[in-house]
Amino acid sequence: MPNNTHQQTEFPPLEHPPYHVGIIMDGNGRWAKAHGKSRFEGHKAGTDNLRQILESSVEFGVKMLTIYAFSTENWKRPPFEVMGLMRILEEVIDRELKALHKNGVQLRHIGRLERLKPGIRKKVLHAIEMTKNNNKLILNVAFNYGGRQEIVDAVQRVIEDKIAPQDITEELLSSYMYTANCPDPDLIIRTSGEFRTSNFLIWQAAYAEYYITPTYWPDFNKAEYYQALQSFGQRDRRYGGRNE
Ligand code: IPE
Ligand code: IPE
Ligand code: MG
Repeated sequence: MPNNTHQQTEFPPLEHPPYHVGIIMDGNGRWAKAHGKSRFEGHKAGTDNLRQILESSVEFGVKMLTIYAFSTENWKRPPFEVMGLMRILEEVIDRELKALHKNGVQLRHIGRLERLKPGIRKKVLHAIEMTKNNNKLILNVAFNYGGRQEIVDAVQRVIEDKIAPQDITEELLSSYMYTANCPDPDLIIRTSGEFRTSNFLIWQAAYAEYYITPTYWPDFNKAEYYQALQSFGQRDRRYGGRNE
């Protein structure tokens, strides 16, 4: 049987794919421990896993993906691990940027770039500039991102812009978030079985659907991604109203 026919039977087109998916890529450390490897190797395995999830996003009809790669709270980890995570970000850009660009991925960053080393910051900005006209998939990378920090940054800018109190609306505040111009996430996936947001998109996810799986991030594959998207398709999103 030709390969593509096989794929079509395994993953039939989804009726209601979410437009915007957020992923809390958690469990690299526990995955590493379970395999007798270092945490660094766990983070590497997690990063390698991204490729199939990006490709599957395009195949499954997801248009925007926001991945949580490093939180403002992750600075609390031992310096050795933080350095490893920074190194991985830099290596991924060096190694994958060309292919991402060729595949029509538009890279964006959400979070604070200020605390990153100038060399990494430069690479991130270059990647954003290079891919800005791509439209197959928008990939927001949340790196040094914190939802509360994002709200604080937004309020500071609102005040700097001297916005009058009566002009402050939900739409206005949304436009001051790092995610300005992004529709709110429809589905948030969290791997490794934790039932918490850990400060991810707390403003934007007010009405997001959640999918939580015990699978550690490096093992989260295409089939399970499909399952998560299918589960989303069956949700009754009421936004506080009634669907009858
Ligand atoms: C997620 O994996 C990656 C980051 C937070 C950077 P963890 O490193 O949190 O893995 P666990 O939760 O310890 O298993
Ligand atoms: C959330 O995972 C952050 C990322 C996946 C980047 P954490 O492992 O940092 O979250 P907690 O500490 O378990 O809440
Ligand atoms: Mg974790």
